[in-house]
Amino acid sequence: MWRRATKSSLFLRLLKPSKHNASLSQSSTNGFPFHIHTHTHFQEKHGIFSKEVAPFITFVLGGPGSGKGTQCAKIVETFGFNHLSAGDLLRREMDSDSEYGSMILNTIREGNIVPSEVTVKLILREMESSDNHKFLIDGFPRSEENRIAFEKISGVEPHMVLFFDCPEEEMVKRLLSRNQGRIDDNIDTIKNRLKVFEALNLPVVEYYAKRGKLYRINAVGTADEIFEQVRPAFEACEVAK
Ligand code: C5P
Ligand code: MG
Repeated sequence: MWRRATKSSLFLRLLKPSKHNASLSQSSTNGFPFHIHTHTHFQEKHGIFSKEVAPFITFVLGGPGSGKGTQCAKIVETFGFNHLSAGDLLRREMDSDSEYGSMILNTIREGNIVPSEVTVKLILREMESSDNHKFLIDGFPRSEENRIAFEKISGVEPHMVLFFDCPEEEMVKRLLSRNQGRIDDNIDTIKNRLKVFEALNLPVVEYYAKRGKLYRINAVGTADEIFEQVRPAFEACEVAK
């Protein structure tokens, strides 16, 4: 079980919203705008997590419209993970009374990447408040900068990484027909999202492939057909079941 250690953990204090000192231009000595000491004694156990059970982390990567969200819903249903979508967390932060709201809105509208410290902070806050220790982190890391920031701040690495490999024309077709009312599902932003994906996200995919953590999935077909390729990755992993 993913047991809470103490409410007043160092971790929670570090991740408290810090309206006063969290402006993006202000940097602490470790390069992040809020004061996180990257090598505390907590990392010797499970990174900075104040839990007794180590988190089991799966990153879910793939281009825009490759079906990450759809497959994550199936993984949640079948294997009982907690699904954290980086894009959804950013949109929620944007809609709240956040000091980062307009920066996130402008970045998403253009299809660019939000600074890692903001995204990592949102993800870690969700992880710390969850009672489930199995996490699917979807749409993250979107860049090497995202990946390095997560590892540096949390002190933990993913156990496995799923990559939904989908041809561009199929992704564009899905994005233009899904009608979710998103400000970034228009052809101009989609073109930039695809460029950003190729330039910044593919190097992350290659990084995990070299480390033997990547499951490459052919993301063309029905959701059920694609899930039959996803299932064995989790079935092969005792901890994930
Ligand atoms: O994953 P999703 O398509 O929901 O992401 C929407 C947008 O959120 C991305 O195009 C990007 O602007 C932003 N995002 C980000 N960093 C992430 C994930 C999403 O900046 N790690
Ligand atoms: Mg999504």
